[in-house]
Amino acid sequence: MIVTTKGLFKHAYGKYAIGAYNINNLEQTMGLFRGNLDSQAPFILQISKGARAYTDKRMLEGIIRAADEVFPEAIFAVHLDHGDEETCYECIESGFYSSVMIDASAKPFEENVAITKRVVDAAHAKGIAVEAELGQLGGVEEDVSVDAEKAKLTDPDQAKEFVERTGCDSLACAIGTSHGAFKFKGRQGLHFDVLEEIQKRLPGFPLVMHGSSSVPEEEVRRINAAGGKLLGAKGVDENEFARAAQLGVTKVNIDTDGRLVWTRVHREYFLEHPENFDLRPPGKVFMAEYAKFIAHKNEKLGSAGKLEEVRAFLGKEG
Ligand code: G3H
Ligand code: 13P
Ligand code: ZN
Repeated sequence: MIVTTKGLFKHAYGKYAIGAYNINNLEQTMGLFRGNLDSQAPFILQISKGARAYTDKRMLEGIIRAADEVFPEAIFAVHLDHGDEETCYECIESGFYSSVMIDASAKPFEENVAITKRVVDAAHAKGIAVEAELGQLGGVEEDVSVDAEKAKLTDPDQAKEFVERTGCDSLACAIGTSHGAFKFKGRQGLHFDVLEEIQKRLPGFPLVMHGSSSVPEEEVRRINAAGGKLLGAKGVDENEFARAAQLGVTKVNIDTDGRLVWTRVHREYFLEHPENFDLRPPGKVFMAEYAKFIAHKNEKLGSAGKLEEVRAFLGKEG
């Protein structure tokens, strides 16, 4: 059942975080639904601009609609990940999305406020929630000074002003993570101090953590052993999700880890079965492995086992 992102956030806030997983194809979708049902977790299925363009957005939407029929017990929201203004309007108009993300974080503050506010007005008119972003995620180099690194993080005072002026429903904050498989060099990690300050200024307001893949060492080792070349890959410690959730993080975005599972499965499969050219055997292994991965993540996020509680909660909320 497709539900509102707001309802999921309301139930989770301060207690656990909802996993927001990116999908691009059928096999990811199957693994995603199975993994969430295996762990009895509500979830957010997110689609990036690139995912919409990979085949045709109607293909992806069709797969999701079918998954909703195949897995009627599932509870999930459909979210546009990292949208620009035009894509946000398209998704708002389509009536298919529970929420959209407007990412104008690369623009100057005032411009980010203006763009986000326009998207919020359009989305709220249709009952759709908006995630916005303030601060800069990005590759943090070891030789960047502490001051320069801090300057990219979300400023807690600005975050409060931004939320009040735009009316957005959740905020993606830069607290030290970055996208992809190479997040930290040396000893950097999450800036809980910044998160704490943001929560103090915005109590009860849902925060979002992008770039939250943990890039498991074992996954990287197996990929490299099967011919890959991912050198120095490092991610977020998944044991820190629980602390982040207590500080107001209600949505944790994970994409790269799923791609690593895909790469490991396919590299190993074809190395072990050089005679094979059928896509289904490795596809089956991937769906099972991805489901296992999702169930494990949901344990770490605290969303595992919450499905029936959420169903009852959303039922009462109307
Ligand atoms: O934050 C970006 C997500 O990992 C989506 O990546 O734009 O390559 O689909 P993508
Ligand atoms: P990762 O690259 O860490 O998986 O982050 C995904 C993300 O933030 C999607 O918006
Ligand atoms: Zn992101």
